[in-house]
Amino acid sequence: MSDLTELAISNLTAGYEDIPIVKSVDLQVDKGKVTLIIGPNGSGKSTLLNAVFGLARVFGGQVVLNGHEVTHLDPSERVRLGLRFVMQRRNIFPHLTVEENLRMGAWTVRNDRARMASELAKVYDLFPVLKELRSVKANLLSGGQARILELARGVMGNARVLLLDEPTTGLSPKLAKQIYDYVLKLRQMGYTILLVEQNVKSGLTVADEVLVMRMGSPIYYGSASEISVKMTEIVSSWLRY
Ligand SMILES: Nc1ncnc2c1ncn2[C@@H]1O[C@H](COP(=O)(O)OP(=O)(O)O)[C@@H](O)[C@H]1O
Ligand SMILES: [Mg+2]
Repeated sequence: MSDLTELAISNLTAGYEDIPIVKSVDLQVDKGKVTLIIGPNGSGKSTLLNAVFGLARVFGGQVVLNGHEVTHLDPSERVRLGLRFVMQRRNIFPHLTVEENLRMGAWTVRNDRARMASELAKVYDLFPVLKELRSVKANLLSGGQARILELARGVMGNARVLLLDEPTTGLSPKLAKQIYDYVLKLRQMGYTILLVEQNVKSGLTVADEVLVMRMGSPIYYGSASEISVKMTEIVSSWLRY
C-alpha cells in the first residue's frame, strides 16, 4: 500500500446473512484514480460496493479507507471519513428540491452555514445545470438530471472516495457521455473512484485499473490499457458460464 492509497480492500469476503457472495477480493485505489469493476449480472459487483460502504456482511478480510480500518464501521462513520455511495437503485428524495437534496449530502456540516454555502457553491460550479434547477422538486427532474443530482450530492462535504454503481444505466448515449464527462472531471479534481459499469467500453474510457468479477471472484485485475487488449476474450468468456 503506497502513501497515495485511498482505498485498500484485502482478501475481502462478504455477502448477506450466512451466504458469502464475493470472495477474496484484493483491490487498491490510489488518490485521483478510477478503478472499474465489470462482470456479468449477479457476479457480485454491487455486493462488493455494499461491503465497502458497510451494507453487507463481512466474513473476512479488510477495508481500509484513507489509512483508517473501516471494515466493521457503520456507513455513517465511513461517510465521516470521506466515503460516498451513489447506489444502483436511485435514491434521491423526490419531494425535496434539488438544493435540499444536495444539503442532505453534507449533513455532517448541516449546522455550519458558511460551510454549507461554500459546499453548495462548489457543487453549482461543477454542475451548473443544478444551479438553474435548485428550487425544483426532485421528482420533476429527467432521468439524466436525477443522476447528475445523485453524483453532485456525492461530492458534497468532505467526500474523497466515491463508489458509483452503474451511474449511466437506462440513460441515452448522449446523457451517459455527459455523466462520464463529469466522472472524468471529478477524477481530475482528485476524487478517488470505484466505478461499476455494465457498458465495458464506456467504463474503460475513464478507468485507470480494472477488476473483472465472475461468480463473486476476481478473475482479472490490472491496468485499463492491459485489460483493453484482452477485453473481447474476457467478455466472450462470460457467455460460457
Ligand atoms: N440483499 C441481498 N440479500 C441476499 N442476496 C443478495 C442481495 N443482493 C444481492 N444478492 C445476491 O448476490 C448475488 C450478487 O448480486 P449483485 O452483487 O447485485 O451482483 P451484480 O451487481 O454484479 O449484478 C446475486 O446472486 C444476488 O441474488
Ligand atoms: Mg449490481
